[in-house]
Amino acid sequence: MISKITDRITLISEADPDSDLFEARYPIPEGITYNTYVVEGEKTALLDAADAGTTGEWVADLKRVLDGRRLDYFVVHHMEPDHSANIGTVLSLFPGVRIVTSAKAVVMMSQFMNRDMSPLCDVVREGDVLDLGGPRLRFVDAMMVHWPEVMMSYEETEGVLFSADAFGRFGPYDPSYDWLSGARRYYMNIVGKFGPMVRRVLSKLSAFDIAKICPLHGCVLDSDIPGYLAHYDVWSSYRPETEGVAIIYVSFYGNTRRAAEMLDGILRGKGAETQVVDLVRTDVSYALEAAFRYSRMVVLAPSYEGGLAPQMDAFLTDIGGKMYQSRKVGIVENGTFGPCSGKFMAKHLGGMENVEIVEPRITIHSAVSPENEAQIAALADSILG
Ligand SMILES: Cc1cc2nc3c(=O)[nH]c(=O)nc-3n(C[C@H](O)[C@H](O)[C@H](O)COP(=O)(O)O)c2cc1C
Ligand SMILES: [Fe+2]
Ligand SMILES: [Fe+2]
Repeated sequence: MISKITDRITLISEADPDSDLFEARYPIPEGITYNTYVVEGEKTALLDAADAGTTGEWVADLKRVLDGRRLDYFVVHHMEPDHSANIGTVLSLFPGVRIVTSAKAVVMMSQFMNRDMSPLCDVVREGDVLDLGGPRLRFVDAMMVHWPEVMMSYEETEGVLFSADAFGRFGPYDPSYDWLSGARRYYMNIVGKFGPMVRRVLSKLSAFDIAKICPLHGCVLDSDIPGYLAHYDVWSSYRPETEGVAIIYVSFYGNTRRAAEMLDGILRGKGAETQVVDLVRTDVSYALEAAFRYSRMVVLAPSYEGGLAPQMDAFLTDIGGKMYQSRKVGIVENGTFGPCSGKFMAKHLGGMENVEIVEPRITIHSAVSPENEAQIAALADSILG
């Protein structure tokens, strides 16, 4: 798909609706797009390349956009293969093109291409400008957003930010598609671990007058730029976005689920916003999104072979790795012959920064008892308190 962003900037966006998992891990039921851009002045530049799965359409669109013009520069902002798999394709289509990229990207490129790529590369660093005779691309080091070599670039004359993976989202190229729904799960799972590095870049971007943001995934953003920046400010600081309770549970036979549903009913009765996630049937990336979005969380899980239900173990490992912090959390364990899942959940949570485990910690012996019902009501009060 080709779309004019300004007179001098053209988007080439290829949809990958058939692939079921992004990064071999995250379900993308609504697909994803890989975006590249052509910037034209006296000189021409291609910004990034697309995923290997879209090479055919992408090359056809690229030729249509250039319409016979020579390509002078190939800017590589990010070496992850969803954007760099076609470097070889670009070199064979445009022999003599200069690759403009970071020093760390040259090393990665040489690894991926299995040859020394440095003779083909012009290395740029923070503050360098690529003058295309008209458009001027100013480079911004964006280390760890999302890999160490990442750079963004800012087209100074029209105020267009090429933001690499930042501000991208899952989902189709459809401006009516809700950015938040695709962008939050994308951010939390893919960039979420690197909040301090995101904040470092956000503070640099505050010096720019940004009219449009052109990410490598999802739509070009051309209105309410402060709104998108504000979401990234909240997420990268690990502050909750929404007051409410994420209720995350595992249940083998329905008893722990019953406790989760009771808790949900009580919390909603008190006017609280909740999101209930069944970890057995929901991909962990959605549970992680809920955990980081809300100000509070309750985790409920059965004991399993002297340990913790593996789905909950994986979830807590995941959010710990992504720096889950500064939240109130409640714990409900279930066990039939030696309840121990609560101990393991508490161990995970105890290793996270500023996580407060609220009372009562509840033990269900197989089925929810009248005593458990009273405890669940008490937990609803304390998690909101
Ligand atoms: C495969 C399996 C292993 C279990 N291992 C333990 C265990 O080690 N200790 C224990 O107290 N209960 C164990 N349980 C029982 C569960 O912790 C839980 O009490 C029971 O499944 C009822 O809860 P549920 O209906 O939510 O699944 C196990 C259950 C299953 C299915
Ligand atoms: Fe990436
Ligand atoms: Fe990407």
